[in-house]
Amino acid sequence: MGLLKVCLTFCLVIAVVVENRRITKLERIENVLKRTNRILDDLNREVVISSDEESCEDKQSKCGDWKERDGDEWEENCATKPYLQSHCKKSCNFCDSGSGGVTEEPPVTVAPPKTEAPPPTETPECADVKPQACAEAKEKETNPVKWERRCNKGKFLLDNCKKTCGHCDGGSGGSGQTSEAPVKTTEAPVKPTEAPVKTTVAPVKTTEAPVKTTEAPVKTTEIPTEKTEEPAGSGSGIDSLIEECTSDNKEHCECGEAPFETYVFKIDTQTRCFTVYRPEGFEGKPVPVVITSQCYGKDRLMSIGMTNTGTGDNVAAARYGFARIGLSTPDGGWTFGNNGIVNDTVRMPCSEDDSKDIAYVNKVFEYIDSHPDKFDVNRIYTEGFSQNSMFSAYIGFCHSDRVTGIWQGGSGLAFKSDDGINLPGKQAKCSAISYAEDGRNCIECTDCKYWPIYPCYQPKKPMIDCIADYNNDYIASSRSNSETESTTLNMYNVAKDEGHDARMLRFKPSDDGTIAGGHKNPRNTVYWQMGCWGMTEKCSSECETSFKTCVNGKDVSKAENRVNSFEACIEKDTFKDLSGCDSTCSPTFEMLKQSEVPYKAEFAYGKFGGNDESGLAKPSTSQCTAE
Ligand SMILES: *[C@@H]1O[C@H](CO)[C@@H](O)[C@H](O)[C@H]1NC(C)=O
Repeated sequence: MGLLKVCLTFCLVIAVVVENRRITKLERIENVLKRTNRILDDLNREVVISSDEESCEDKQSKCGDWKERDGDEWEENCATKPYLQSHCKKSCNFCDSGSGGVTEEPPVTVAPPKTEAPPPTETPECADVKPQACAEAKEKETNPVKWERRCNKGKFLLDNCKKTCGHCDGGSGGSGQTSEAPVKTTEAPVKPTEAPVKTTVAPVKTTEAPVKTTEAPVKTTEIPTEKTEEPAGSGSGIDSLIEECTSDNKEHCECGEAPFETYVFKIDTQTRCFTVYRPEGFEGKPVPVVITSQCYGKDRLMSIGMTNTGTGDNVAAARYGFARIGLSTPDGGWTFGNNGIVNDTVRMPCSEDDSKDIAYVNKVFEYIDSHPDKFDVNRIYTEGFSQNSMFSAYIGFCHSDRVTGIWQGGSGLAFKSDDGINLPGKQAKCSAISYAEDGRNCIECTDCKYWPIYPCYQPKKPMIDCIADYNNDYIASSRSNSETESTTLNMYNVAKDEGHDARMLRFKPSDDGTIAGGHKNPRNTVYWQMGCWGMTEKCSSECETSFKTCVNGKDVSKAENRVNSFEACIEKDTFKDLSGCDSTCSPTFEMLKQSEVPYKAEFAYGKFGGNDESGLAKPSTSQCTAE
């Protein structure tokens, strides 16, 4: 009878999960599609086109859908995305030599390697690679001094907006603050240098020129004030300014209300945001930082817990003394490196050209580093659940020289060889692009082996990586054999082999059925994190004893009640009165077991809590070293 009940509960849970997934599936596919275009763009990779393709057709059946979806942006996308140029010729109006309704400039530098590629209509060094993005950027940057600085220093503008920046002749395109003079003289008289096929486009450009010249005189007047929040050492153009979120710059983002602070900046042309909660009472004291990743909420503050200081994570931040930084994306999913392909030659795809989200994360680190008075730049932690757990590992190991600890809930490291592991985006089985194109019918990748990142040995210090799941979490592990085919186990083993201080915490649904497990973090998550990372001083053994007494003196009749009793005892006002307890101490493993007991707990260094080891030798089991 009891068994039947467990089974019924269980089936219900699965049904709910399946249903939820169905609801969000369309939305997810759409997001992945959006991302694909960007991935392609980011990688700037030519998609190989078989040379016998001369017919002008859409080779990709979704071109029509994409066109509809992109609306006004479609033309721009066709103009800048090699994939669309090769696969959606018809929908992009790239057929025959007629202008076919292309009214904007054709792409100049990113044309596909095909004869129908629209030829450049200007001297190449004097054109904008991304005209629309450049125009937008220029329009938004109303401060001419800043604009000029960005034109001279910013990688994006330097590479893509020569024309709009007025770097056309005089060869001033380089760096430095030198390039004033040519601005006024250049634009208008630009002429096509070779016989263009699409002569219709040329005039369109000239209309832009006069607009620009009106700005030029303003430039000479120095406006030394108005230097907003620009961290020192920011080096990359259009995305280089981190600004406080305001109604003027927020775009789709939500600006947090004090004490939550939202910042915005651009990656390429996309507005990105992150939000900081630094609790009161730590003025003049640099506090550790916990970076929370949440992709599903699409930049909504609520999803990253940045609307209410009374919610769990914020209460913990104020109590233990750490700042929270919430990372998010408008895409609804993260972009991981190297098109989702991680193998023995590409183990850590961590460069900015690997993923726009690495550029995003680097920006957040830049922000942290520019406020050493507020943040302890040597104590940064990352945490997340499911895909966000994968992303937290990705951030953490890409920055393993400086991230102290990672919390991964409901996912670890996927191996392609685990047949029973079936991640929602077929990661480790298919490339991100293939999944975006064909979903679950994607083409199996031959060069992939792991996902999302292989945690190579870090000479500076071992990483504390806490990996937690329930053994009936069939996203994190295989349905048929969650003991051997488990992303949690994989990450634990590999990180340990690489010399990291990994901690594996595997839980089961409770025997009494009150805790169902599944794709969830263990209950009282934030305390598990505090304990596992050992961010503050460890609680004393006296505290441990009085705490156990407290929990067991309350209702522990069912697993669920026990978890609630734990919560009541660890709550600050109760906890501080327990003998030997200081409200800021990090709970010990013994204390945490009063909530739920992991049936499997392994600690690579044989200890739970903080780890001050540094500069340890590379173990013989290590396969690689982080750069
Ligand atoms: C790893 O992936 C890259 C593609 O990103 C590929 O060029 C390389 O051959 C692969 N290496 C292995 C060992 O599969």
